[in-house]
Amino acid sequence: MKIFVTRKIPKPGLDLLRKEHDIEINPFNRVLTKKEIIKNLKGKDGLLCLLTDQIDEEVIVSEPRLKMIACYAVGYDNIDVKAATKQGVPVSNTPGVLTDATSDMAWALLFSTARRIVEADKFTRAGKFNGWDPMLMHGVDVTGKTLGVVGTGRIGAAFALKSKGFDMKVLYVNLDKNVDLEKKIYAKKVTFEVLLKESDFISLHVPLIPSTYHLIGEKEFKMMKKTAVLINSSRGPVIDEKALAKALKKKWIFGAGLDVYEHEPKITKELLYLDNVVLQPHSASATIKSRTQMATLAAENMIEGLKGLIPPNCINPEVFKQS
Ligand code: GLV
Ligand code: GLV
Repeated sequence: MKIFVTRKIPKPGLDLLRKEHDIEINPFNRVLTKKEIIKNLKGKDGLLCLLTDQIDEEVIVSEPRLKMIACYAVGYDNIDVKAATKQGVPVSNTPGVLTDATSDMAWALLFSTARRIVEADKFTRAGKFNGWDPMLMHGVDVTGKTLGVVGTGRIGAAFALKSKGFDMKVLYVNLDKNVDLEKKIYAKKVTFEVLLKESDFISLHVPLIPSTYHLIGEKEFKMMKKTAVLINSSRGPVIDEKALAKALKKKWIFGAGLDVYEHEPKITKELLYLDNVVLQPHSASATIKSRTQMATLAAENMIEGLKGLIPPNCINPEVFKQS
């Protein structure tokens, strides 16, 4: 069968696909437009896409042969899954293989922001380090502080468990009680308001869905401690980015560590000029191991889906119940 891959991904995934199918890969090192995706999808049975591709109903219905969409990401808010289901097309994602990489990055951002690592690195490189200074680069403590985890799915739970070494009190909000976290680190399920008011560090691990859009805005920043640090490695639109820039500028909070942005790849200009924010280019899952495993997992899902079998990480298994 024929597969279109919307961007070059690590070779082991492409090799798996090539063993059984014909693949065509976007030759450019850039995101394709919707028009280009539709054009390239003509005559293809499978679509392997990225989180940067808008796979809406128009794309999905454009090729009647389409039998499988494998997304190279855990988050799939860019895909109209309902439209795919209606069209009888299974959709898969790549959960699990990036849980540690992503939760590690949330910690990297937390420490970088709390201890002003990026700001201090720039300062040092600029030749401004004139010897030990009792007043230089004061940050905030991590050990023994209160950690607020918003969303305790795979990534949020892994992030929370890693706090153990820092002897933190862990608060969380999640739809369901997380018995494992309560047992292992005495995490406490609280209301969103309590989490905002009592946490020293707040880390977001929710999917982007209508109820999480702008979950953090001006009202929420005003509830946080003045010394609070906000970390986002989930999806940009979970935070109202304009309100965030205002909160950082007016020092309503101590700082923020961001891997994702509301209008990627655009970033609210003011953030670029602020020292109390650490900016990563949506690279939380970018370890050699994690990105390679994402590629092989996406390929395995594609191969199963094209056989007419339920892919191991199918998001819309209803497709198989309909037939
Ligand atoms: C990355 O953001 C992912 O969803 O895999
Ligand atoms: C990510 O894998 C999540 O389910 O939170």
